[in-house]
Amino acid sequence: MTRNFTEENATEEVLSRYADCPNPRLKEVSEAIVRNLHALIREVEPTTEEWMQALEFLTAVGQKCDDKRQEFILLSDVFGVSTLVDAINNRKPADATESTVLGPFHMVESPAYPNGENVARHGGGAALVVTGTVTDTDGNVLPDAKVDIWQANEDGFYDVQKPGELPDLNLRGLFTTQQDGSFWFRSILPSFYPIPTDGPVGEMVLAAGRHPNRPAHIHFIGMAEGHEPITSHLFVEGDPYIESDVVFGVKESLVRDFDLIDDERRAKEYGVPNPFYHVHNVISLVRNT
Ligand code: BEZ
Ligand code: FE
Repeated sequence: MTRNFTEENATEEVLSRYADCPNPRLKEVSEAIVRNLHALIREVEPTTEEWMQALEFLTAVGQKCDDKRQEFILLSDVFGVSTLVDAINNRKPADATESTVLGPFHMVESPAYPNGENVARHGGGAALVVTGTVTDTDGNVLPDAKVDIWQANEDGFYDVQKPGELPDLNLRGLFTTQQDGSFWFRSILPSFYPIPTDGPVGEMVLAAGRHPNRPAHIHFIGMAEGHEPITSHLFVEGDPYIESDVVFGVKESLVRDFDLIDDERRAKEYGVPNPFYHVHNVISLVRNT
């Protein structure tokens, strides 16, 4: 306790107010916030105007949020914090599929489809066949596993971003693996796309001279009875933003070749125009302990 709160003793004084905090986790987190926030202020030494600007920025972030837009998650994403929290909470054995951020566009339940369904509900885009297998980390195939997928279209838009223009549930689907653990569906090649730039977070990214783009990807959640679910993406090898994802979601193990196949017979078998793109994905799940 002091009646003389100074630049020198400020951090110790604020920390001392948490000495009797009855909740140990709240104490730990509050003290870490105080220590790190004070360290930030001591390093940056903001002017009063700059600090007001920072508070106004956070106010704008909050005001941009509604039931369809979550600007605070976007803020966490562009600072790499979402990815860091995801990594800390999903430490997995080497053979398991790695996780990455969920993102804001898994907003609706994906329609359940039989294998082979075409999830593209509008014309346009390059034909894509996605094949895959769900296994455990020992390589045993998992029948009756679920694979939920969602992706942007050839222009980089999710259905929910263009209601009325793009069909509802476009490029979304929930598939069930067959007896051999396999699943497959038809789609179109996704494009890279920018995160929303019409809000304070996008404006901040642009003001910093950063680009706002995510490399092309297909989101998936793999789920099987008795196994830990995995939320992840498949990234398209060769994408111009593969090394500079604005939300830091890329992991080497998730990048795949999307091969251009020129083969009339295979195109006919899959029911897609020739030529078409093909990608294969093994989803390896960790057994529940
Ligand atoms: C996405 O991949 O859908 C996404 C992730 C983070 C921020 C914006 C979009
Ligand atoms: Fe996405």
